[in-house]
Amino acid sequence: MDKNRSDQLLIWIKKCPEEIRTVALKHFSNINIDHDNALAVTQRLIELADNETDPHVRLLLLNAIPKGNFTLPTNIETEIINRMQRGEGASATIASQIVNRVKISPIASNLLIEMMESCQPQYLPVVIEAIVKCGDSEAVTVVLNKLQHLSISRTLSPGYLTNTFRNAPESLRKEAQKIEEVIEAGDQDIRQAVSRKLSLLSEGNALRGLQLFRSSKLACSGCHKMGYVGNEIGPDLTRIGKTRTQEALLEAILYPSSRIEQGYATTKILTSDGQIFNGMITSESDNNIHLQLSADRVEIIPKISVEKREISLISIMPHGLAELLSDQDLADLLALLNAAK
Ligand code: HEC
Repeated sequence: MDKNRSDQLLIWIKKCPEEIRTVALKHFSNINIDHDNALAVTQRLIELADNETDPHVRLLLLNAIPKGNFTLPTNIETEIINRMQRGEGASATIASQIVNRVKISPIASNLLIEMMESCQPQYLPVVIEAIVKCGDSEAVTVVLNKLQHLSISRTLSPGYLTNTFRNAPESLRKEAQKIEEVIEAGDQDIRQAVSRKLSLLSEGNALRGLQLFRSSKLACSGCHKMGYVGNEIGPDLTRIGKTRTQEALLEAILYPSSRIEQGYATTKILTSDGQIFNGMITSESDNNIHLQLSADRVEIIPKISVEKREISLISIMPHGLAELLSDQDLADLLALLNAAK
């Protein structure tokens, strides 16, 4: 599309009623803009965004920027990154898409490096790719260094780092591969332990499994719904047997943190009086964070006392169940989950 047409279209989009504008902007972002017109369209969209008071429309305008190597003004960049970090629903997702479309500045690249600890796992690839695209090799080295130490790197899919760094200089490429190997080795150990355990289990009894599930000793139903009974702190397990293998179910019980389901991310909060809390944020206001620590404990933490807050990869599901359960107990629980279809 040439400059005249795109300009007219943008002016029209800007003026049209809200519900049409949202859809129109979404389509606009998919239109093929002429190569030599893309910069002008980008500038126009930034100008419109700058004059827009509704933060959501501002995001939509920026998310219509043609994909490429355009940069945003620093103040807008910072706003976008903050939105992504705050991780509030749709606007965080759009913010991450914008970061993905543009080329970030070195300043923004530093901001992203700082947020890696507290990044929502689903945005980690966006953060890594944006910093790589920014092209500052020192920043990339810092990122790889961090990935080596942060447990969040375990959320990256297998092969991701090798793919992302395949065109990087050799030293960086090797570093990325090394991190990948460490992650994979951990996964392998767990998988082997799970299949070894599974081979030792005899046939289970689903009815006894249900009694255990609801027993006060295990209190699975304190967090999970099974049929009509149970709380909804963790995922509903009523039909879990339909989508999970025996191995995956046993892994979830024996190693709850090895795979944390989407939407159940845990946060670690350090308070100014030296306490550490690990839990799931169930709600957050301007003043307080409600953190679900276990089936029956919610900690209300005043924001003013929060010293540090980061994504933790420790599930709130109880650990060490292997010690508490006999092989027969495990077999019975598995029989129950497997039959839940
Ligand atoms: C304190 C709350 C809590 C308790 C108690 C608890 N769970 Fe969980 N469970 C969770 C949460 C949160 C998740 C999702 C995050 C994760 O994967 O760790 C989960 C995930 C699971 C999954 C994986 C679900 C999926 O979609 O793959 C299974 C299976 C499971 N739990 C079974 C159990 C069983 C069996 C018990 C009792 C022995 C139990 N849970 C006790 C909170 C709990």
